[in-house]
Amino acid sequence: MFGVCYYPEHWPQSQWDKDAAMMAELGLTYVRIGEFAWSRLEPNPGEYDFDWLDAAIESLTSAGLKVVMGTPTATPPKWLIDQYPEILPVDPDTGRIRGFGSRRHYDFSSAVYLRESLRITEALAKRYGAHKDIVGWQTDNELCCHDTALSGSELALEAFQHWCQQRYTSIDKLNSDWGNVFWSMEYRDFSEIELPIGAVTETSPAHRLAYRRFSSDQVINYHNPMVEMIRQHAPGKFITHNFIPMNETAVDNFALAAPLDFTSYDNYPLGRTDLLMTGAPAEQLRRYMRTGHPDFATYYHDQTRGLLNRGFWVMEQQPGPVNWANNNPRPAPGMIRFWTLEAFAHGADCVCYFRWRQAPFAQEQMHAGLLRPDNSKTEAWPEAEQAMAEVAALDIGNQPLQPASVAIITGAEGLWVSDIEKQGEAYDFNNVQLSYYSALRELGVNIDFISVDSDFTAYALIIAPSLPIVDQAFVDKCKASSAQFIFGPRAGAKTSEFGYPATLPPGLLQQLIPIRILSVETLRADCMEGLSWNKQQYQSGSWCEQIDAGESEILARYDNGEPAVVRQDRTTYIGTLTNREFLLDFFQQYCQQANIQTYRFGTDIRVCQRGDLIFAFNYSDQPQELPLDSDTSLMLGSAHIEPHGVTVWRPSGT
Ligand code: GAL
Repeated sequence: MFGVCYYPEHWPQSQWDKDAAMMAELGLTYVRIGEFAWSRLEPNPGEYDFDWLDAAIESLTSAGLKVVMGTPTATPPKWLIDQYPEILPVDPDTGRIRGFGSRRHYDFSSAVYLRESLRITEALAKRYGAHKDIVGWQTDNELCCHDTALSGSELALEAFQHWCQQRYTSIDKLNSDWGNVFWSMEYRDFSEIELPIGAVTETSPAHRLAYRRFSSDQVINYHNPMVEMIRQHAPGKFITHNFIPMNETAVDNFALAAPLDFTSYDNYPLGRTDLLMTGAPAEQLRRYMRTGHPDFATYYHDQTRGLLNRGFWVMEQQPGPVNWANNNPRPAPGMIRFWTLEAFAHGADCVCYFRWRQAPFAQEQMHAGLLRPDNSKTEAWPEAEQAMAEVAALDIGNQPLQPASVAIITGAEGLWVSDIEKQGEAYDFNNVQLSYYSALRELGVNIDFISVDSDFTAYALIIAPSLPIVDQAFVDKCKASSAQFIFGPRAGAKTSEFGYPATLPPGLLQQLIPIRILSVETLRADCMEGLSWNKQQYQSGSWCEQIDAGESEILARYDNGEPAVVRQDRTTYIGTLTNREFLLDFFQQYCQQANIQTYRFGTDIRVCQRGDLIFAFNYSDQPQELPLDSDTSLMLGSAHIEPHGVTVWRPSGT
């Protein structure tokens, strides 16, 4: 259940056996290799050199280790770019070519690059597909990382015109669907269509939505043949990909994950916390700068797991300071062990540390590993050892994953809509979704991220924080389900082509709750106003909808007495963004009504259940007392939970 990321090509061959022996001694099972090694695998066009890789694999597997082979398509070599410069993508914001010299310098619309990628993938898969100790494959690396999903190239434009023709079939339909009569934007032919970039002011939102859908399809159309190629030559071996979260790439990760055996995630809690909390007041950031925010790592674990609704791997786990955030602190003592246990609690099947040894050269020389460049062990080493012993003692691998009671509906379309139509600077898809998730996690409930296409049967409570586009099939599924549904603001507010519903928002959802949104106001985030619910005062702001509640029950009101939260049967509609206290109290009441167990143990304690084990994680630098019954059967730690400590117990009655 443990592994490491290793780059044999960075070290002299004389080092490989020693490294392998030390990996085995640490108790690791898996070693991921190869994902950036194209220039060594094919130093000249068509001239493959597999001898060094054979030798590296031999060193690793003779020490008893299993290999996960990465395909090297994230880094096309210089000769390939020189031969086919059209592989390079174009930055849609600046119109500049994104050149050679780092990674991910390829355009998803380049047919030449797809051909070349399949060629190198086939060569590797043919050579290593049947190797008994190469147990699985990772495709590419973090597809669309570094903002590479969109390209403004000529190739992308041609492919987009073709995609539009397939989707809309006639130019009149496209003009009408996009509302192109507005500002004389009408096209006479598909060949006239532009990419929605480089215009004077904003382009049509429907045009931009189409470009996002198209770009996401291009990534999937590039990736799927690679998976098929590996399947063909490596039957019976797993294929995974280390996903960048959907809110960063704006790609439909559900569709991207579909052909894989399981999904993987690269967990860098401090880097992500630094980036996500950019602009937050210093007191808030300081609290979490060495632990990561209590909900950021698991937010992505749960989302990655949800893509296929089965276990997942942490393919890369931060072992110390990284090099790529604005600021790169050292983890607090104990955090490597803490994050490892946390990943397993949230359903991981394996945690691989990134990387084996810090590289003394190139871009990531300031990035920690399990070893320093002089081979001394970093603090991560004993912490990984401890986590391994604890994971074994708790037998976490045999704890089945059960469906959570609460599901959050997520998807790329909500994100696209919020990116494309800002309307108010304080509304952001990811912030809204994260605030809902975070409140639910502070209540200690397990959460599954699902898509509109998922099976709803297992869930008592289904929450859609930001779901602007729905279709009739979704509405029918909601009607057929017995769950409680909570919709956040903006639900059903757009047609599939980014129009305003003729019956007013929430459009098709009016079949579940017959209300009409009369207008929307957006306010500065620091201009919150009152919200009264359950005889208590909370706050509302940023995004406030004026609701004609019709016959539905009014649960909460704005300061002016107008409805802000309404309910009809099993459907609740929240028409505004609120403060955290409201979400905590409101969701707690819904959980209680649905008989969902909550553990509200304070702002810095997170509780999560896997199988027969309940885990509590203390994110604070102070000890805390968990209000556990005196006869609780403790499996690890105690009710007095140390700073950055972990306590595990069994639910009563088991
Ligand atoms: C990941 C990436 C790795 C390495 C790492 C550094 O996003 O997959 O190749 O760059 O970050 O933290």
